[in-house]
Amino acid sequence: MAENLIIAEGGKEEKYALLLKQIENIIKEEEDMIANMANMAAMIHATFGFWWTGFYRVIGEELVLGPFQGPLACTRIGYGKGVCGTAWKNKETVIVEDVSLFPGHIACSSASRSEIVIPVFSKSNPDIIIAVLDIDSEFLSAFDDYDRIWLEKAARLLEY
Ligand code: SME
Repeated sequence: MAENLIIAEGGKEEKYALLLKQIENIIKEEEDMIANMANMAAMIHATFGFWWTGFYRVIGEELVLGPFQGPLACTRIGYGKGVCGTAWKNKETVIVEDVSLFPGHIACSSASRSEIVIPVFSKSNPDIIIAVLDIDSEFLSAFDDYDRIWLEKAARLLEY
C-alpha cells in the first residue's frame, strides 16, 4: 500500500532522485498500467507543481487521454500532431521552450508556456510506443536536458 509522497529539499537533482525511488516502489507492487500511470502523474505533479502532468495512450491511430493531474485536457491527438504526436512519431523526447513557437502545438490550456513529452516504449518491442508522458509548465523554458534524463528514467519504469 502506498505511503505518503516525500518531496526532497534542494534542487531538481535531489527531488528527482527521491521521486524516482518512490515511483519504483509503487510500480513494483502493481501490474496495472493505468493505476501506475495515475500514481506516477500524481507524484511528479506534486513534487514539482507543474501546470499539467499526464499520459496519453496510443490507441489505434491516435493518442487518447489517460491518467493526469491538472486542468481539463484535449481527449485525442493524431499521429504526428502537436508536441505529443511529434514525440510519438519521432520516437524521442521533445522539449519545447516556448509553445507559441512550436508549429502545430495543441493548446489545451492557454496558461501552458513550455512543455516536455517523453515516449513510453513497449518492453517486448522497443520499437513500439505505448504512451507518452506529457508535462506542461506555465513558465517559459521550464524543462531542460536534466528533466529529460530523469523523466526518461521514470518512463522506463512504466514500460510494459
Ligand atoms: N500541448 C499538447 C497537447 C496536450 S496538452 O498540453 C495536455 C500537444 O501539443 O501535443
